[in-house]
Amino acid sequence: MATLLTVATLLVAAVVSSPIAEPKPDPQLSLPPLIPSIPGVTDPIASSLSIPLPILQIPTPPLTTPPWNGSDLKPKKIGYFWTGAGDNEHADFLAAYSLDDDTFGEFIWLADVPSSGNSPHHLGVSTDGKTLIGGGLLSLLKTQDTAYFFDVSDPYRPKFLKSNRALLASIADEIRTTPTGGFLVTYMGSAVGTSPGRLVEFDSNYNIIGQHPEDLQGQLNILGEQFSPHGLTVNYEKNVGFTSDFVVPLSILKPSLQIVRANTLRLWDLEKRTIISTITIPSGGGIQDVKFIPGNPDTAALATAVHLGQVWIIYPFKFDENGNQGVAELLYDLGPKAHGKFIYLTLTTANHIAALDISDLSNVKRLDDPDEVQPTVGPHYIKVTPDQRHIVVTDYFVQTGPIGLINTPADYKALYIDINVDGSLHFNRSIDFNTLYPERGGAKPHSSVIFDFSDPENPIYY
Ligand SMILES: *[C@@H]1O[C@H](CO)[C@@H](O)[C@H](O)[C@H]1NC(C)=O
Ligand SMILES: *[C@@H]1O[C@H](CO)[C@@H](O)[C@H](O)[C@H]1NC(C)=O
Repeated sequence: MATLLTVATLLVAAVVSSPIAEPKPDPQLSLPPLIPSIPGVTDPIASSLSIPLPILQIPTPPLTTPPWNGSDLKPKKIGYFWTGAGDNEHADFLAAYSLDDDTFGEFIWLADVPSSGNSPHHLGVSTDGKTLIGGGLLSLLKTQDTAYFFDVSDPYRPKFLKSNRALLASIADEIRTTPTGGFLVTYMGSAVGTSPGRLVEFDSNYNIIGQHPEDLQGQLNILGEQFSPHGLTVNYEKNVGFTSDFVVPLSILKPSLQIVRANTLRLWDLEKRTIISTITIPSGGGIQDVKFIPGNPDTAALATAVHLGQVWIIYPFKFDENGNQGVAELLYDLGPKAHGKFIYLTLTTANHIAALDISDLSNVKRLDDPDEVQPTVGPHYIKVTPDQRHIVVTDYFVQTGPIGLINTPADYKALYIDINVDGSLHFNRSIDFNTLYPERGGAKPHSSVIFDFSDPENPIYY
């Protein structure tokens, strides 16, 4: 089985404001669930009707949320986790926990969304730190909204704000802010989960205002070759971005017999929201992730090729021998299992987190012991904390259950791992979501956002 790789670079890239014209607003509808929630009446429907349908499920409302008690704790560091209910029948939710040393892992508050079974995926934060956006990977299966917004203007009391869906695209993945207060989000599939997906744009009111590319040349590009954008990285100052193509979402669900993976990245002109070129990593087998290396003089990005277990470096301003803009070169082969000084990678199916010292790109050093057994199962989403002293990893990728082809084992923990001075890792703390939510059949945290108020004048939202 191919190793799943996710990458986090040590230095956080700053979002640089630049004058980009906001496209004309064309807000899209958010449809309510087809069956309204009537406690005691719809609950039995939820469990009896949604089972026999193999892929498309009835958008029944979630089961009633069991009572819970919040806390008045006000830690300086808060971890927000976008989490699926283990039984797929209770509401999916955003949970806030303390990441402070003295109260680590204490529960603060949670915010339910009005639907269940979305398979919560990535979580992002607005530039002003007042709103979080969580994407639903499998919302499509219950014909539910895909993007969920939370009001975190009181960071200790997150509230569900609203949700919506795109008309042309589904399967929400990576999230980046725009300079005008909105978001760009990769939607890996079309509205029915096939190729092409889209790069969906939200304005500062979180309404959908673009499903890119929208120009003719861009349409031809994404119809001409599989466009399943998963990874996303942007550099507004240099006016370039990358999306990386992973898999055709519908191909991971039965009756598909084989997962259809992609070998490509798209290089974008961010201002025009158009595709400049398609860059290929031969036999890449799913380019899950791409990230610019902060401060790299060539504006280079790192991309992870899942099938090969390799990290590639992509240069947006170099040209290949055919005159196409954008060149991919192999950086490091992790094998079957810059200013940015260290990178951390999760090898989901190998239950391993790897660390590379990339201070010298021509002499990459591996800092972890590939044979060490680490206390993690199915590590996937990874992020370095704003103070660069820890990495937060959530041990859950995707489980489609009996209806699909991807069911990656996981232990459903949020790991809080210390970064040693030499860049290597020290595992000693975690939050065990599965044991914390027995009344929801467990919990599956896919991703996180961290707020750090250590310096109250300069809060960091990341
Ligand atoms: C919430 O706190 C109250 C008061 O301490 C307690 O009686 C109740 O059982 C708690 N509920 C839960 C779900 O823990
Ligand atoms: C984990 O290690 C960090 C520093 O390396 C330390 O501050 C913390 O107290 C440790 N936590 C536990 C639970 O051992």
